[in-house]
Amino acid sequence: MGVATMKSTRGVKHAAKGAAAPVAGEVWRRRDLLGLHGLAPGEVRALLRETQRHDEGGSAGERPLEGRFVANLFYEDSTRTRNSFFVAARRLGADVLDFSATGSSVSKGESLTDTARTIEALGVCAIAIRHSAAGAAEMVARAVQCSVINAGDGRHEHPTQGLIDLYTLAKAHGRLASLDLGGLRVAIVGDIEHSRVARSAAAGVALLGGSAVCVGPANLATPEAGAAGCEVTNDFDPVIEGADAIMMLRVQVERGAAIASREEYVAGYQLTPERAARMKRGAIVMHPGPMNRGVEIHSDVADGPRSVIVRQVAHGVPVRMSVLAACVAARAGAA
Ligand code: CP
Repeated sequence: MGVATMKSTRGVKHAAKGAAAPVAGEVWRRRDLLGLHGLAPGEVRALLRETQRHDEGGSAGERPLEGRFVANLFYEDSTRTRNSFFVAARRLGADVLDFSATGSSVSKGESLTDTARTIEALGVCAIAIRHSAAGAAEMVARAVQCSVINAGDGRHEHPTQGLIDLYTLAKAHGRLASLDLGGLRVAIVGDIEHSRVARSAAAGVALLGGSAVCVGPANLATPEAGAAGCEVTNDFDPVIEGADAIMMLRVQVERGAAIASREEYVAGYQLTPERAARMKRGAIVMHPGPMNRGVEIHSDVADGPRSVIVRQVAHGVPVRMSVLAACVAARAGAA
């Protein structure tokens, strides 16, 4: 069974619904998901197999978190991640405690770990945390006993987004059965420097055997910003024809990103219809969102035939179902 300690009739349902059977060596035993960097390929594949099962309806009727509470602990704004954790938890049968730092006792000076322990004391089995500080999720994981899922911590990692990107890529390129991205090349383009999405995506692509190249202006795609396993270049045009996927990133001005001029940025790094027309047959356009249309991506490309951006959002639910269920089950198994 792919995900450790999940006690159900899932093996039967795999066969009944035609989803891929669990593969030896693909197992998840961690209480928390804090990042993709450092995971084993089999751990990532275990989560993605479960994602496929949820995505294809193989888990319909299962409610492994029935009667439990999952907490969203969000110190930064979010549309996709927060709401898809909510939907995922509900699909698993859980209720959701939806905490926002705004309007909470954080304004009275309560620390992150005291807040997390307070939320845990209310009886939650998992906390999904988003915070502006790199390392915040790990700090919370050390402070509590329940499962902790990193929903984005500063510039560090956004592992569930990374899993969404891997799943979307594998599905679009017919690699769900193998979960092997060997031979596929992903260009990650834009503000690499401030992007936790780039770090998780690059780490995940490398784990599954693909290659990634990070592209952006010199101040936003430094050699140091090259995420694990990612080449870095400041020249977008030469990488277009060779990419099987181009993932565009927003310029994160709220984290201090600066561009010399919008016109120069658009000229050098926007995925325009002209650039998209040079992409190879079958290559896809990705974006984790939120998009700034007219800056990093032209509206016609965002809504065009190569775009899988809406599919990425939809995959957020089965990915987060997979992660929540697996981490809570692993914690229960270890207790
Ligand atoms: N991709 C992503 O993290 O989007 P949100 O900020 O809306 O959650």
